[in-house]
Amino acid sequence: MDIETFARRIPKIELHLHLEGAVRPATFVELARKNHVDIPPHGEIAELYRYDNLPDFLKIYDLVSRSIRDADDFHRVTYEMLESCADSGARYVEFFFSAHAHQAHGVAYPTMLTGILAAMRDFETDRGVPSRLIPAHSRELGLQRGLEFLDMVLEHRSDEIIGIGLDYNEAPFPPAPFQPLFERAADAGLRRTAHAGESGPAENVRDSLAVLGVDRIDHGYHIVDDAELVAACVEQGTFFTCCPSTTTGTTIWRDLSAPDHAIKQMIDAGLNVTINSDDPPMFRTDLANEFVLVARDMKLSPEQLKTCALTSIDASWLDDSVKRDWRAAWTAEIDAMIADLDTAPEALSA
Ligand code: ADE
Ligand code: ZN
Repeated sequence: MDIETFARRIPKIELHLHLEGAVRPATFVELARKNHVDIPPHGEIAELYRYDNLPDFLKIYDLVSRSIRDADDFHRVTYEMLESCADSGARYVEFFFSAHAHQAHGVAYPTMLTGILAAMRDFETDRGVPSRLIPAHSRELGLQRGLEFLDMVLEHRSDEIIGIGLDYNEAPFPPAPFQPLFERAADAGLRRTAHAGESGPAENVRDSLAVLGVDRIDHGYHIVDDAELVAACVEQGTFFTCCPSTTTGTTIWRDLSAPDHAIKQMIDAGLNVTINSDDPPMFRTDLANEFVLVARDMKLSPEQLKTCALTSIDASWLDDSVKRDWRAAWTAEIDAMIADLDTAPEALSA
């Protein structure tokens, strides 16, 4: 087996994916037509999926969100997203969705949940891949709307809804003001995560941990600007859900093969990094490809890929007993794959 095949086949967990950012281009076009949503003039749909920064990306993300209207639409995009994850080797998925982006166009929250939860259950029955849902609050809407969001999430709670996220444009909307939202979510027994250090400074990573009390950090790249914070996060075993392809579109680290790429620096520093796909078709990728990229461009060794995969078990919100079982089973499975590699692992790592 070659390293690329290994990277594709290695068992994985997706911990950082946005449902709306995972809509396949062909599905987007079909749903937009069905639901009478105008798409800006374009040749290939891929032309629309071009952006140079986070705010421009989020405009297209909102357009895609608008095309999803009824429970069947939500079922379809959820099921297709889970199919892509499973085809990439995912054994479990925790994913975000942006309720406000649909509410803005008159879609009721229960309509979204009906389609999404049914697709999650259907997919687990059909393919044996469980998943969990993380409604995410857009930081651009502020604290008050966040508290209303949490009330809605709690009113329509089900076992699959395990936590909340905080996303959208980070640089102008730092995390600290959302402290009351995260405190109430913690009191209600929800897990918490936040996008930080993607387009905002290392301070946002620190405040997400210290003020919001998150269980993990989504992205986190700008932590590399603060050596003390890196040391503290290594010490505390903080988990980071990194997304290689996203960095090439929304951050200052555009070259995955650069020795000072943030994800490379984070791994080299000993931080608990997991590899994820964020908005896969919108960044022309999938979860398997993200592993191929870090193997090929960042020159991660098979052992380092194994560490990322096992770290995703620890960083997940699975039960502890499941984590223990999966760690043991995946270790044996991946070790057998490493033994089957064409070349000795030492020779493959840079
Ligand atoms: N929503 C979807 N993808 C995102 C990202 N990379 N950053 C912030 N919000 C997002
Ligand atoms: Zn994200």
